[in-house]
Formats: sequence, structure tokens, C-alpha cells
Amino acid sequence: MTKLNSSILSYPSRGKYGDSKYRGNCSGFVIRDLIDTFKPKKFVEVFSGGGTGKDVAREKGYANSIHLDLNNGWDAMTDAMPTSSDFVFSHPPYFDIIDYNKVRGEYNQDDLSNKMPYADFIQKLDQVNEKIYNSLENLGRHAILIGDVRQQGHYFSIVKDMTWFGDLTNHLIKEQFNTQCAHKQYNGTFIPISHEHLLVFQKNQIWEVPIKFTKDFKRDLRALINVTWADLIKAVVEELGGTASLQQVYIKLNGCRKADHNQNWQAKIRQELRNSGYFKTVSRGNYQLA
Ligand SMILES: C[S@@+](CC[C@H](N)C(=O)[O-])C[C@H]1O[C@@H](n2cnc3c(N)ncnc32)[C@H](O)[C@@H]1O
Repeated sequence: MTKLNSSILSYPSRGKYGDSKYRGNCSGFVIRDLIDTFKPKKFVEVFSGGGTGKDVAREKGYANSIHLDLNNGWDAMTDAMPTSSDFVFSHPPYFDIIDYNKVRGEYNQDDLSNKMPYADFIQKLDQVNEKIYNSLENLGRHAILIGDVRQQGHYFSIVKDMTWFGDLTNHLIKEQFNTQCAHKQYNGTFIPISHEHLLVFQKNQIWEVPIKFTKDFKRDLRALINVTWADLIKAVVEELGGTASLQQVYIKLNGCRKADHNQNWQAKIRQELRNSGYFKTVSRGNYQLA
């Protein structure tokens, strides 16, 4: 019996469970420890891949656990959950980093690892997460294991971008072993990803569904009210290539939200240029970052 007793997980070996050659498989110890901790009556696995969860379930004495994947004919996008349960473990593709059509040897248009815009992937994942949540018995749990992805200079935090259904009861960080990045030496500021997230959501109400999602949007700095004058002036100096005159700062910040709320905004700018530690005078009426 190996209950989870820390929010940091580290399993250097994956155990004897499932197909160790199945790309993107997870350690069976994660599923074993989840089962030992939550002791579900009925265990369902979504995105079961190479059979890791099924082997753990059999070892733990679950004769009727259910393991769902395109591999065995169940499509998360179109098929209903075949049963309700008090525990679902899911391990979706991490966006398109592994092409599971190739792993399966057969293309499927609903495979979540297909090349698609990231926003479409998140939308599909949300659909599956909602389906899983709705299928839970009251007080049931959904544990999802998922990693972050870096592609073409962008960092995608799937766990942050996906919609959360239910009450988050645990957020565990799992150390990731045997990644391609792990054995390389990188120059500069690159830090390889060597962790995954294991989130546990619980259903605590029959009718009310707690939903949390991230909103992506941009605001012009000049439209913000809590920005400081020093930050606004710094932006002007940066935009102008390192040196700005007082007149240029006035012109650039005329009409910004803070100026609209301050009759004496020009005096405020002069005061800031003189007193703030951000700036230095390079010649009369011309300023640079200190
Ligand atoms: C990260 S792998 C799961 C690995 C598994 N935990 C293991 O240890 O072998 C993700 C799985 O999602 C499956 N998958 C992708 N899209 C799917 C869909 N629409 N419906 C069902 N399964 C899907 C893939 O076939 C793949 O097996």
C-alpha cells in the first residue's frame, strides 16, 4: 500500500505495467498510488494508451475497471462515457508532441494529437474533461496527468489553459524522466521541462458545476490605471531607442489613462524624471534610463 504522501512525485522506474515501448506512456506507480490513496469503488481510465492503467487495476483487484482509448475503439470526442464511476484517471496527449496516429498505425480525425491550432486542442480537451466530470458520481474524482509543452519559442501551459471542472483538491508535480531534453546541455537561458502536473478534481455538488478558465487578452500599458508614472515614462524612453526629451514624453503620454485622471500630469512627469531612480539626465531636457 503506497498512499501519496507528498505533492512532489518522483518515480525513476515505471514499473512492470503496460507497454514500456508505448510512446508517452506513464509510470504505473502514479496510477497505483492514486488508487491506494483514493480507494475507488469503480475505476475508469480515459486515454489508456499502452495498457498501464489496466495492469495496475488488475494487480489491485479491479476485475471490472474500464480503459478507454482510440486503440480499443473508444473516441473521446464522439463516444459517451460508458459508465458512471467514483474515479477517472486520464492522461491525454500533450498537444501534438507525439503523433498517436503513427503509434496506432492508423489515422483518426479525432485524435487529440493531430496537428491543429493550440486553441482548438484546448477546446477539444475541455470537451473531454467536461464529459468526464459529468460522468462522475457525486463526490467522485477526476485525476488528470498532463505536461507543459514548448514549441517554436512559445511555452504552453496546458494545465493553466484548459478549463477546470470541479473543485481542485490536489495539484501534484511529477518529475519527468527519460525526456529527450534531459541529456543535453543547453546554452543561454533555456531551461528544459522536466515535470508534469497531476491535478485531482472532485465533484462536490450534484447540480452546481464549478468551472474555472483562463482568459487571454492584451491591454495597452497606457490604458492601465495602476501603472506607475515611472513605468510609463520608461516605456517612452525604450520606444524611442534609449533617449527621450521632455516634450517627447509629454506627446507620447498625452491622453493616457493616468493623464486623464490628473490635471497636473505634466508636472508629475517632470517630478518623476527628476526624482525617480529609473532615469538620468543626459543633457538639458533629455533623459535616459539610469
Ligand atoms: C499520453 S497517451 C496515454 C498513455 C498511457 N497512459 C500509457 O501509459 O500508455 C495519450 C493517448 O490518447 C489517445 N487518444 C488521442 N485522442 C483520442 C481520442 N479522441 N479518443 C480516445 N483516445 C485518444 C492516444 O491513442 C494515446 O494512447
